[in-house]
Amino acid sequence: MKSRPTRWLGAVAAATLFTLAANGQDPLTRKELDKRLDVSLFEATKVGTDLYNRGRNEEGCYREYDGTLRIIVPLLDHRPELQSRVANALKQAAAEPSPQRSFTLRGAIDDVRQTLNPRAAMPSPAPTPPRVPSPAPVPPKVPAPAPAPAAATKALWERLGGETAVKAVVHETVAAAAKNPKVNLTRNGKYKLDDKGTANLERLLVELVSSATGGPLKYSGRDMKTVHAGMKITEAEFNAMAADLNDVLKKHKVGQQEIEDLMKVIESTKKDIVEK
Ligand code: HEM
Repeated sequence: MKSRPTRWLGAVAAATLFTLAANGQDPLTRKELDKRLDVSLFEATKVGTDLYNRGRNEEGCYREYDGTLRIIVPLLDHRPELQSRVANALKQAAAEPSPQRSFTLRGAIDDVRQTLNPRAAMPSPAPTPPRVPSPAPVPPKVPAPAPAPAAATKALWERLGGETAVKAVVHETVAAAAKNPKVNLTRNGKYKLDDKGTANLERLLVELVSSATGGPLKYSGRDMKTVHAGMKITEAEFNAMAADLNDVLKKHKVGQQEIEDLMKVIESTKKDIVEK
């Protein structure tokens, strides 16, 4: 569902741009226009970061970035490659879950700023893109260094290593969880996870990760609430499974940023899986 309340922020950015472009006596040179685009994008990152970090409003941040980038795209026709990278990032983000979509668009904004103005006088407002605090009101984490723009615009699925890597991680995580009494995967033997059942579960998990991280595989299973209803999964059991996944990702030397991004996706399913 799309909420509209923050659309006006994008409109403000548009108005700023068009006013800037229309005000001058002389037509703007390309260089001047690029400089002004950079200023507008800088302003958008300030608003987005603030919404995300202080307002805890990921939706608002995403809409701000989305609106701003949609206005910028037609003004990048002198840089067709950059223009197509931004258009792809917009498409990719629209299919991504929260908060990954905001990261993707922030990566695209940084990409535009970096490309148009590599020695930008005005650095981005925060040391990082809105690499957000966790949803719970915990003390803010030390922000991770901003990833290189190229890496940030790649789908999380690619950054995790694609299908082969995700399959291996899922396989090992399910094996670890099946052995872990703190997870109690079979719910005291109620679910028979034989070879066929396990293979099916792994296939669905790979699909789920793919669909949530910009991969090509569509999820064909049931929704998380329906599947886990009645299993009485506790938060501690959920966390134990997440910890197993975390260990496997580390063992596979997956990057810290990618681990954090994937853990956020997993975390977002908690409310549907854990039963009070
Ligand atoms: C302690 C935590 C968890 C336990 C004990 C648990 C247990 C189970 C069990 C027993 C099944 C098989 C159900 C059946 O055969 O009908 C299942 C299915 C599934 N689980 Fe979990 N689960 C847990 C956490 C998670 C998490 C964190 C995810 C993903 C984010 C997940 C995703 C799935 C999927 C995709 C299926 C298959 C869906 C389908 O059959 O359509 N589970 N889970």
